[in-house]
Amino acid sequence: MLIAQITDTHIKLPGRLAYKTVDTAAMLHVCVAELQQLKQRPDLILFTGDLVDLGRPEEYEHLATILAPLQQRIIAIPGNHDERGAMRAAFRAGGYLPGEGFLHFAIDDDYPFRLIGLDTLIPGEGGGELCAERLDWLDRTLGRRPGRPTLIMMHHPPFQTGIGHMDRIGLKGAARFAEIMARHPQVELILCGHLHRTIRASVGGRPALTCPSPAHQVALDLDPDAPSAFRMEPPGFMLHWWTGAGFVSHTASIGDYPGPYPFFDAEGKLID
Ligand SMILES: [Fe+2]
Ligand SMILES: [Fe+2]
Repeated sequence: MLIAQITDTHIKLPGRLAYKTVDTAAMLHVCVAELQQLKQRPDLILFTGDLVDLGRPEEYEHLATILAPLQQRIIAIPGNHDERGAMRAAFRAGGYLPGEGFLHFAIDDDYPFRLIGLDTLIPGEGGGELCAERLDWLDRTLGRRPGRPTLIMMHHPPFQTGIGHMDRIGLKGAARFAEIMARHPQVELILCGHLHRTIRASVGGRPALTCPSPAHQVALDLDPDAPSAFRMEPPGFMLHWWTGAGFVSHTASIGDYPGPYPFFDAEGKLID
């Protein structure tokens, strides 16, 4: 089974650019076209937050028109740029978001693994939080199916990245989250967004990843006082292959690049 992860699409009203620079809608159109042309078709698409830029219902409508060509099921959790009410309404037809409260959920039996979505949103803030109520829900939910391989998706990564301005809008509650991860070894992988680039860390012994954006990327600068900045590095998405025994994750760069070139000639000799 193959999962495509898309994150931080930051869709605005038609014609508006993010930070007066990034045409996020045009870039998501390109991403959607690439997904449709993949040789191996993803079975499921996960969105890990910051779907729209200002949380407005009209932005979710714009997002839906861009995603319309995709036939796969789309499962989404909110980021700090999303708004619970507007997102709940926009994704109501998916049937997995609860009707009230936090936008967290567990999909137990639809896939060969269990899928848990978390809501790290604090309305009006850039940083995120897993408060006691959300962490208790997660601990209880994991405790119900300890033997089932589990994939967790959440927007704010539960680890320090070293990119100072992003860590300052990181996740509150990360220490207890790590302690919960250590007690639930069935968690195979934690998928995150928010960082607009690929980063890997270990959280309570479980692997955690952030994913590039199909639009702008957060600048790679590990100075704790680095200025808050983005770069137009190659946009991307991730593919997570469920092998039956675990997940293998790939980053895909969006765009036209030279190649593919063969390594070997027609006689099977290495080209040199
Ligand atoms: Fe974002
Ligand atoms: Fe974010």
